Amino acid sequence: MSSNKNSYPASVRDNVAYFKKQGIPVPPPHLLKTERQIEEIRKSCQVNIAVLDQVEKIVRAGISTAEIDRCVYQVTTDHWALPAPLGYEDYPKSVCTSINDVICHGIPSEKEILKDGDIINVDCSTILNGYFSDSSRMYCIGDVSEENRKLVDVTKRCVELGLEEVRPWKQIGDIGAAINAYARENGYSVVAEIGGHGVGLEFHEDPYICHTASRNTGMLMVPGMIFTIEPMVNMGRAGFRIDRKNGWTVTTLDHKPSAQWEIMVLVTETGHEVLCW
Ligand code: MF3
Ligand code: CO
Repeated sequence: MSSNKNSYPASVRDNVAYFKKQGIPVPPPHLLKTERQIEEIRKSCQVNIAVLDQVEKIVRAGISTAEIDRCVYQVTTDHWALPAPLGYEDYPKSVCTSINDVICHGIPSEKEILKDGDIINVDCSTILNGYFSDSSRMYCIGDVSEENRKLVDVTKRCVELGLEEVRPWKQIGDIGAAINAYARENGYSVVAEIGGHGVGLEFHEDPYICHTASRNTGMLMVPGMIFTIEPMVNMGRAGFRIDRKNGWTVTTLDHKPSAQWEIMVLVTETGHEVLCW
């Protein structure tokens, strides 16, 4: 595919015009990545995957989340890349580590020690040669309760179900609709106000991916778009609060646990390709 900031590639131009005429919101041309850009973003994703793979090896009861942060910084810079969170809107660390009732944006700390039974989300984002990648995984520490393990597994399944909706000429809302339906079937709730996003040339681009959206709503999916799917699923109510002192850490209001997995996906001519997981 070849395109530039101001015009659609010939391969999608007619279809985009057709759906636009029907009143469906279409992505502006700059959200469609070129083959060259996709190649560079893929390389960034490979680093992000390597970082999460290394975290997987060290994460266990007894280590601090600061240790995870150091691991992320070390592995990322060993690959000649930078951790995107560090300094992003004054975020102080290289990674987000969100334990149990922390929904997202937990800040690593020497004082926070992982213990048996914890569930933790490690959210990594990488900048390689100016190209961004972003994905996160859950880790179960030691002997995790049946109940919490199910939350982790259902949340992962939510991502897979969302992913199955990704193909060109459908609308973004179908992703959240599938995710929300499955989470609710399991008695859980999904955070609506924090969600996925376009990514690649910047850390956070359009469109916003709401994981509680309705079918046949939202932006048209067009080949060349890259975005994340990253539902935050709460065992209890969806209500949350943001830590007033640090301005970042998001916690459930009812203190019940929350889980999240994040993948990065490319819309292709025939469906999708997962770039990062
Ligand atoms: N990685 C998060 C996301 O999935 C963004 C975190 S912003 C940070 O979009 F500054 F906290 F890193
Ligand atoms: Co993200």
